[in-house]
Amino acid sequence: MALQQPDPVQAMTNSSSRHGRRSLLAAWLVGVALLLIGGGAAFVYGGFFEIGADTPHSNTVFWLMQTVRNRSVAVHAADQAPSDLADPKRIASGAAQYDEMCTTCHLAPGMKRTEISQGLYPRAPELRRGSRMTAAEQFWVIKHGIKMTGMPAWGVTHDDEILWDVVAFLGKMPELTAQQYQDLVKSAPKTHSETMQNMDMKNMNMGGSHNH
Ligand code: HEC
Repeated sequence: MALQQPDPVQAMTNSSSRHGRRSLLAAWLVGVALLLIGGGAAFVYGGFFEIGADTPHSNTVFWLMQTVRNRSVAVHAADQAPSDLADPKRIASGAAQYDEMCTTCHLAPGMKRTEISQGLYPRAPELRRGSRMTAAEQFWVIKHGIKMTGMPAWGVTHDDEILWDVVAFLGKMPELTAQQYQDLVKSAPKTHSETMQNMDMKNMNMGGSHNH
C-alpha cells in the first residue's frame, strides 16, 4: 500500500491561510492599541478628567486610588517600630508635635472641623477615630507624605525620632477625651518650635549648612 503523500498544494494553501489569519490578528491588535492611545490622549488633552477637589471620584477611580495607596504603603513601610513606643515621654512629646503640625487637617479630640479639613479631597481621616495602618505604615506615611492628597512629607524637615514620637501619640489618641488631650499637650517636655530650634542647633554642631 502506497503511503499517502501530503498534497503540496494543500499544504501551501494551509500555511498561507494561517499566515493570513496571523497578519489579520496583528493588524487588529495594532488597531486596538492605536485606538487606546488615541482615546487616552484625547481624554488627557481634551481636559475631560474632573480635577476639581469638590467633584468626588467615581467608584472605580476611588477604588483604584485607594488600592494603589494601600499597596504602595504596605510594600514600602519597612522600618521597625522602636520598642519604647508606649513610653509616656514619647507619647507626650508626640502630642505637642501633633497639636501643632497635624490638627488643621486631621483634627483632635474635642475639635470642630476646620475650613481646610472640610475642603480637602481626599479627606484627611480623623485620626482620633484610630487608623487601620500599622505603626510602621503610619511612620512611613508621615515621613514620606502621599502624592496628590495634601498629606505632606514631614521627613523633609523632621528627624525620625520626632516622627516616631508622633506615631506613639497616634496610638494613644483614640482613648483621650478633649480635656485629657489638652493636658497631655501641655505636659510635653518641649513645644514644637523648641524641638525645631534644638534640631537646628544639632545640625549646626554637626557642621551641616542650614539656610533659612
Ligand atoms: C494639609 C493637610 C494635612 C496635614 C497638615 C497633615 N495631613 Fe496627614 N493626611 C492628609 C490627607 C489628605 C490624608 C489622606 C490621604 C489619602 O487619602 O490618601 C492624610 C493621611 C494621613 C495618614 C494615613 C491615615 C490612614 O489611616 O489612612 C496619617 C497616619 C497621617 N496623615 C498623619 C499625619 C500626621 C501625624 C500629621 C502631622 C505631623 C499630618 N498627617 C498632617 C492631610 C494632612
